[in-house]
This record gives sequence, C-alpha cells and structure tokens, in this order.
Amino acid sequence: MAIPTIKLSSGAEIPALGLGTWELVGETCTEAVRIALDLGYTHIDTAYWYGNHAQIAPAIKGVDRSKLWITTKVPPFNLERAQVIQVCDESLRDLGTDYVDLLLIHWPNHKVPMAETFGAMAELHEAGKVRNVGVSNFSINHVRKAMEVSALPVVTNQVEFHPLLNQKELLEYCHSHDVIITAYSPLGRGDLLRDARITAIAGKYDKTPAQVLLRWALQKGMIVIPKASSEPHLRDNLGALGWELAAEDMAAIEAMNENKRIIDPDFAEWDLPYEQIQ
Ligand SMILES: NC(=O)c1ccc[n+]([C@@H]2O[C@H](COP(=O)([O-])OP(=O)(O)OC[C@H]3O[C@@H](n4cnc5c(N)ncnc54)[C@H](OP(=O)(O)O)[C@@H]3O)[C@@H](O)[C@H]2O)c1
Repeated sequence: MAIPTIKLSSGAEIPALGLGTWELVGETCTEAVRIALDLGYTHIDTAYWYGNHAQIAPAIKGVDRSKLWITTKVPPFNLERAQVIQVCDESLRDLGTDYVDLLLIHWPNHKVPMAETFGAMAELHEAGKVRNVGVSNFSINHVRKAMEVSALPVVTNQVEFHPLLNQKELLEYCHSHDVIITAYSPLGRGDLLRDARITAIAGKYDKTPAQVLLRWALQKGMIVIPKASSEPHLRDNLGALGWELAAEDMAAIEAMNENKRIIDPDFAEWDLPYEQIQ
C-alpha cells in the first residue's frame, strides 16, 4: 500500500514512514536502500554524521527524484554559517542530488546563535538546495527559540520516541505549534520488540511487535523512521500501515512510559532555560 503523507507547516507532504539509516554503511546500506525503494519506501533519513551519503547515492541514482523524500542533518559542531553551507554542499555532492527535502540541525549547540544557523539554512533554501528546514534533539525551550528566529517554518523536531520514552509535553507543545515530531529509535533500537506487553498486543491483532510499535507512533500523528537492513524487516515495518490499534491498547502502550532514554541518558544537560538560549 502507498505510504500516507503528513502535511507540514511549509505545505510539503512528508511520507509518514521512512527508512532510518544510522549505522547502515557500505554495501549493506546501498542494498537496504535499494530494497526499501523497491518495496515502496520513498523517505530516507540520513545525516552527515552517519557517513553514508555516498552509499545511499547508488541506490537512489536513476530514481525519479520528485518521488523521493531525503532528510539529512548538519552536525552540532558545524552550525556556523560557512560550515552549514559547506556541509550541505558536501552532502548534496555525496548523495548525487541537487537538493534535500529536509535539512535538520542534528543537535543544539549553545555556542552558535540559532539565528546564524537558520540564516544559512534560509540561504540554502533560497538557492534551491534545501526544500524544508527542521531540528533534532530539541527541547521545548529550543523549539520555541527556533520558531522565533527562523524565517522558514520549522517543520519537524526529530527526537527519541517510543513507549518507554513517551514525551507527552514535548509532543503536545510541538504539535500544537505545527512542528511535527519525527520519532527516532521507534523500536527502542530493537529492545522493545521483546517486551511482553508489546508482544501480547501484537498477538491480539496478529501483527508483529515492530508493527505495533510503529502503529502506536503513527496513530499519535508522528512520522516514524525505523532502521532496518534486511528485506524481511523492511517489509515487516510496512505492515504498520492500514490498520488501527483500539483506544484501550493505545492507552496500555501509553502507560509503559519510564522516561527512559536509550540514545543519550544525559540528554537533560542539553537543555537550558529559554532566556539563556541564543
Ligand atoms: N536525530 C538523531 O539524533 C537520531 C538518533 C538516533 C536515530 N536516528 C534516526 O532514527 C533511525 C531509527 O532509529 P535506530 O536506528 O536508533 O533504531 P530503531 O529503528 O528503533 O531500531 C533498529 C533496530 O531494529 C531492528 N529492526 C528493524 N525492523 C525490525 C523488524 N521488523 N523486526 C525485528 N527487528 C527489526 C533493526 O535490525 P536490522 O538492522 O537487522 O534490520 C535494528 O537492530 C536511525 O536509523 C536514524 O535514521 C536519529
């Protein structure tokens, strides 16, 4: 089935389910992206840091560019104007494309004024190299500042999101300001697939645990970008589409929250009071 899209505040339509590519490298990366595209994926999530732009390039070569959605990210230590432009140009060269659909600030960096970074991103947008801009790993305070200083709409905040880290306040804040959350590590990096509460719900619907986890996030209005390297996993994840979890099961998954971060347990250190963010 076709992957549904979500309308962003810029007016663009992003496929709600994409392929995450962190740790996909070398031939495995090219092959996974190739299989994904054959299966009907059109949204690829990458980052300058992942070092795999050049491995994604052969898989997207020859594909109708207008049918693809490519997101990449600028590392937090490259957020000055000239660095943002250089990272973007290198990314486009390595990906073999003229533009990315979405460019994100990968993590906040308090040493560089956000206005400078968003100014550079607006220049890239003006030059046709970047269609939409957004952020990643931003707290409510960071998102508030970003919306204030960016001339372009901040279309998404890509953050860790799964049943053990159910970021209720951040989700409510972002979605009420039309900044759609992109859920990263939506399978808890694989750990949640064995959770008895998830496997029980999966059994009830005759679905797999991955499909339940992705369905839960999609049903909350988020974009999901599970990483998968094999055809069975890539195919399985598409099975999150086209059915619904009942309210009682959504609530049961909701109740699993432990505020447990897998990616960066010290995440809170990245936050600052709004007044101190430049
Ligand atoms: N912005 C950021 O700072 C940030 C941070 C982390 C992640 N991300 C993005 O989010 C993406 C996803 O997050 P993630 O890679 O951390 O973890 P994830 O998507 O939660 O989990 C990936 C793991 O689940 C396995 N898997 C995938 N589909 C499966 C299925 N149907 N059945 C069983 N196992 C399955 C994968 O195995 P196989 O590889 O063997 O298929 C892999 O081990 C990343 O790739 C990246 O694009 C962004």
